[in-house]
Amino acid sequence: MPDIASLRKTLEKHGQSHLLRFWDELDEPGRAVLTEQIAAIDFDQLDQWIAQYVRKRPLARPSGDIQPPAVVPAKPTDPAVLAEHQAASQRGEELLRAGKVAAFVVAGGQGTRLGYEGPKGCLEATPVAHKPLFRVFAEQVLAASRRTGAAIPWYIMTSQANDVATRAFFRQNRYFGLKPEDVFFLVQGTMPAIGLDGKLLLAEKGSLALSPDGHGGCLAAMKKSGALADMAARGIELISYFQVDNPLVRCLDPLFLGLHSLRGSEMSAKALPKRDPMERLGNFCLIDGKVIVIEYSDMPDDLARATTADGRLRFSSGSIAIHILSRSFVERLTAGRGAALPFHRADKVVPCVDESGKLLRSDKPNAVKLEMFVFDAMPLAGRTVILQTQRNEEFSPIKNATGEDSLPSSLHDQIRRSAAWLERAGVTVPRDADGQVAAAIEISPLFADSAEALAAKVDPKKVITGGQNLYLGE
Ligand code: UTP
Repeated sequence: MPDIASLRKTLEKHGQSHLLRFWDELDEPGRAVLTEQIAAIDFDQLDQWIAQYVRKRPLARPSGDIQPPAVVPAKPTDPAVLAEHQAASQRGEELLRAGKVAAFVVAGGQGTRLGYEGPKGCLEATPVAHKPLFRVFAEQVLAASRRTGAAIPWYIMTSQANDVATRAFFRQNRYFGLKPEDVFFLVQGTMPAIGLDGKLLLAEKGSLALSPDGHGGCLAAMKKSGALADMAARGIELISYFQVDNPLVRCLDPLFLGLHSLRGSEMSAKALPKRDPMERLGNFCLIDGKVIVIEYSDMPDDLARATTADGRLRFSSGSIAIHILSRSFVERLTAGRGAALPFHRADKVVPCVDESGKLLRSDKPNAVKLEMFVFDAMPLAGRTVILQTQRNEEFSPIKNATGEDSLPSSLHDQIRRSAAWLERAGVTVPRDADGQVAAAIEISPLFADSAEALAAKVDPKKVITGGQNLYLGE
């Protein structure tokens, strides 16, 4: 740990001396915390970031010839693509059976829009059994592990703010039936909030304002935490990446895994046909032969609205943050000083102490937060695959407290998907005059984790009455 004299010198050199303004008021443990936080910062690097992202506003409009990328359809009609789908599903299942696949969830976000106290993965998010999100995914991992007879490790990325609570939640719930040695927690990195004048902010007299470095921080975190080395030791080749807020996600999809493998992809992504040109999803684009994701807010308006001759959106594929990453790709990206993903700037309100030590909350953005996004690794991959999927089947995130992408909308979508699976299995589902499902239905992944698995198991003569709470569990 550096002594106070060298700390002062570094801070002076970089114009950040104010961070020690309250040093004399801090007790020994308080000084140790602040020293550690400051010592963790590479100030030469920080100066570059301030020059690049704070003093200037990075150009949002990407340059180059922007084209739509090739996308593998969700429901192919072409016999060749259909055959590839079948081969891929088989390959994916083989990879799972051979123990070459790990699940990876990013759960380090702050969930500010939802406003839920505690890690988002602890949110009760299913319509009948009220399972927390972590259980929803754990049951999928367990189901795949039982089906294939293979150990499937699950890596969970937390942040400094929620790591302790997340681990405690897993312990309290006995790892939801998973073997504790197959559950690996890793903590993502932090970034200091930077005032609009380039000065770092103090959240308290003895503590910097820090926040997680974005889901793109998972690459460096995998390396730093030893997760990558652990994967290598277990013979893991593919990392199945998903977010903590989407209970409809298929955590381990054989088709997606198999396509990635058969096509020699380094990083693959699932895409949805966008509902409308301005839907708040990243846009898959192709620039100079590389797939890149352009955030909805950065997508030039004319391109977002452009249509093809038959009237469809030209850039129709939206990113839903479901990926397969080859372990070797992550190793390559993190071989040097860390994964060199660019930062995205967000101007935010960050409570901080003023010169007198009073805690202030500005009514307009007072700081820049810098985050990395995992999709920025796509153009660094040698090969990529984009697989289209169906919204009803796989995407209903819980982002907001109410309205679109909220818990109520996700519960509705979960029931709708369960009903569709049951109907495909020949079961009659009660519906009201508007065609809405008139029962609360939940299917545990341990009962069936796909429509096909359900059809093989459920009795088509099963009776579901209107208003019933139906839970199909183990
Ligand atoms: P979001 O972009 O929705 O951010 O994260 P968020 O922090 O959860 O929510 P808001 O924006 O504050 O309301 C998408 C996924 O990426 C993870 C989240 O946990 C979620 O699974 N994430 C996000 C991280 O793991 N770390 C981060 O630094 C940011």
